[in-house]
Amino acid sequence: MGRIMDFRHQISSPGSLSSLTADALLLVLAGEAIDAALDAKLASPIQDAVAVEDLKLKAGRCLYLHRVPGVKAPRVVAAAMGGSGVKAFKAAVLQGLNQLKGMGAQHVAVALVGGAELDEQHAEAVVTAAADATYLYRHTKPSAPQPSKLAKLTLVCSKGQAKAVQAGLVRGQAVSAGVTLARDLANRPGNHCTPTYLAEQAKKLGKAYELKVDVLDRKELEKLGMGAFLAVAQGSHEPPRFIVARYNGAAKTEAPVVLVGKGITFDTGGISIKPAAEMDEMKFDMGGAASVLGTLRAVAELKPKLNLVVIVPTCENMPDGRAIKPGDVVTSMSGQTIEILNTDAEGRLILCDALTYAERFKPSVVVDVATLTGACVVALGNINTGLFSPDDALAGELLAAGQAALDPAWRMPLDEEYAEGLKSNFADMGNVGGRAGGAITAALFLKKFTAKYRWAHLDVAGTAWKSGAAKGSTGRPVALLTHFVLSQAG
Ligand code: BES
Ligand code: MN
Ligand code: ZN
Repeated sequence: MGRIMDFRHQISSPGSLSSLTADALLLVLAGEAIDAALDAKLASPIQDAVAVEDLKLKAGRCLYLHRVPGVKAPRVVAAAMGGSGVKAFKAAVLQGLNQLKGMGAQHVAVALVGGAELDEQHAEAVVTAAADATYLYRHTKPSAPQPSKLAKLTLVCSKGQAKAVQAGLVRGQAVSAGVTLARDLANRPGNHCTPTYLAEQAKKLGKAYELKVDVLDRKELEKLGMGAFLAVAQGSHEPPRFIVARYNGAAKTEAPVVLVGKGITFDTGGISIKPAAEMDEMKFDMGGAASVLGTLRAVAELKPKLNLVVIVPTCENMPDGRAIKPGDVVTSMSGQTIEILNTDAEGRLILCDALTYAERFKPSVVVDVATLTGACVVALGNINTGLFSPDDALAGELLAAGQAALDPAWRMPLDEEYAEGLKSNFADMGNVGGRAGGAITAALFLKKFTAKYRWAHLDVAGTAWKSGAAKGSTGRPVALLTHFVLSQAG
């Protein structure tokens, strides 16, 4: 679940909603002037509820009405936006759908009442909100609740907006398909979601969407000289995999967008072992990999005219008799040597070789995505993804994509002065740069491998999953990345 298979728009006006056929009407209230926008059969019970303060026109408030006389749909939910903009709209839709999802309604019609006209972004937001509201992880939990019956969405819009709304619905569906894939991959436990499993899933995606998917094994990685990636992989009995998946939507001569995702299927820290508390959450350390594969799925569904390459280095980070030790020096594919001062800073070690490998595609741009540092969680919490790039224009494009997709990022600095701590007496660089500015030094480490192309780095350590009672993958930043990739077409 997590995908609405049937979604469409219907041309109608809020003034005639009582005759609309659906199992439920979800009215998103943008303004205070309810009676001006709705017909009386719907307006009067809602107005009445507002008058007696059963419904406050504030964000997060909603009202359920059952079998309103004269209204064809048996269920009505009025959800207050308490603000304007697509973000507030999506939050209200989510409120309303959370109210409806456990009920019998299969078909929900959504209308925006009293605000701006529904546009493409609103439509996308409704579909992604529905996917969010109905997502359920069941693969290793047979006792999970039954999936929601919600399966069909209709958006009420004016004739002039029909085309834009339909386009938004299609994009929302593709983004949701990508987010759902990313969530499913990342939620699976480390003993199920191994590097081998990730590679198989990439192959499966390739079959479903006619993509070229290559999977390199240890021998081939040795030949390529990926000494940094292999150093991390050597401590685990799970064989490493290097996934290269390609979507071709433009001429072969067109430089591709390249996405690189960190695929640590479990991060114990290695010999620099992590404390026990919350270590289970390190199964999500392949969230970057999951998100680039999810983005590939979304892009493959939308078929834009561009080329996309997705690269995933994937392995486990384990302590073992064969594991790397603090002080070990390895040679990366780029030829630069690295002193591994902390085996828990493994993400940058697998990514640096993938970034060097990316050069062969002569990319128009490379974006890597990684649950890279606890320091990024300290800096930005769980709201914004950390964005790092020496390229102002590229940073702007990614920030804009995040805003449009309601999957926000915040730009962090990348001054070379921060890189002082990465110096080593025994290698070209160390793999850690001290506690201060840890997310920045990690990004500066990666930057040393990206001289040949335009590059940005997304640190999703705070945004790829949720902890606590809602523990689980978020599928971020699939929405941001999908918007970004689409923006690179033509
Ligand atoms: N996967 C972790 C980063 C992480 C930690 C993400 C906690 C989310 C929550 C990464 O491999 C790591 O261990 N980073 C170290 C780097 C340090 C040793 C320089 C960290 O952040 O502590
Ligand atoms: Mn680590
Ligand atoms: Zn890690």
